[in-house]
Amino acid sequence: MSLVGSGSAIPAQIVTNDQLSLLVDTNDEWVRTRTGIRERRIIGPDESLADLCSDASKSALEMANWDASNVDMILIATSTPDDLFGLAPKVQAKLGAANAVAFDLTAACSGFLFAFITAAQFLQNGSFKRVLIIGADQLSGWMDWSDRRSCVLFGDGAGAIALEAIDQTEDALIGFKMKSDGSRGDCLNLPQTRNFVPLVGSHLNQKGGFSNIQMNGQEVYKFAVREVPALLEKVLNNCEISPESLDWLLLHQANQRILNAVADRFAIPQQKVLTNLANYGNTSAATIPLMLDEAVRDGRVEKGNLIASSGFGAGLSWGVALFRWHGPS
Ligand code: UT7
Repeated sequence: MSLVGSGSAIPAQIVTNDQLSLLVDTNDEWVRTRTGIRERRIIGPDESLADLCSDASKSALEMANWDASNVDMILIATSTPDDLFGLAPKVQAKLGAANAVAFDLTAACSGFLFAFITAAQFLQNGSFKRVLIIGADQLSGWMDWSDRRSCVLFGDGAGAIALEAIDQTEDALIGFKMKSDGSRGDCLNLPQTRNFVPLVGSHLNQKGGFSNIQMNGQEVYKFAVREVPALLEKVLNNCEISPESLDWLLLHQANQRILNAVADRFAIPQQKVLTNLANYGNTSAATIPLMLDEAVRDGRVEKGNLIASSGFGAGLSWGVALFRWHGPS
């Protein structure tokens, strides 16, 4: 299995920290120093998450030099689909990828990493030849814009990676681990509202709907700086790879302080830590492919580079993947 193309798409609307200070009691200095974020993108009325997914996918298809009709599977990691029955089939139709099975996978901020590892299984076992994986979220729609502890963190975006089955001896996915702990899920969730309305006779019916994102930031922070290094260490040890031989650390873009803490733990220099938090904030399932695409296109990530990646967040869920970027052949 090889990574042969990448693409990304972001909404046009930019919301700066200064603008958020008009909504809640915050300021640019606090947000920058505590998180590393300067601005984020928010989907506006002329855009949709399906549009972003489709644009990101088209760029990835172009880089991979694939025709959409040759894609076997489209897997979208998202917690905020345009349609609860599935975002991926809409994107399949937009792309004209008529031969691809298309479905969504939900694992919040770990979603892209989980989708990558899931897709790799189909490619490695010979079921599929070409798979498009997408990470996309529109958390702006589920934000409590009066809660300064959470609304400054998130933004919208989408990223896509084209994965191809190969016969070479070294598979691009060198090692991985995935973890979940639902017993700690309460510190970050986006729950259904429990609004029961009369149906017929004495029967009640639960009206569909969701509340806003609820987050205990400190607990999530502690979870991330404890669990991500522990899992990364296990994967590195299993693969007999030393931290020094990594070309890049590509973490879920949640908070610059989390990225720094993980890098410090392995003595990975700042120049090897990929970060674009300042421009986009936390785009949930989109952060990893958005960052990878940016670094591939500006030439930082080169063919053969070894990348350690980790997604972590609601669930709680977290995962690590060690992989190489092969790029288009
Ligand atoms: O994908 C995973 C998604 N979630 C995360 O990644 C969240 C991880 N957690 C974090 O990134 C950090 O915990 C936060 C950025 C959310 C908060 O940073 P912190 O350094 O943990 O701040 P804190 O919650 O300890 O709050 C410190 C102070 C508090 O004031 P008092 O009680 O000390 O007077 C907060 O009320 O900062 C205050 N505060 C703010 N002040 C200005 C919290 N949010 C803001 C804000 N602007 N936006």
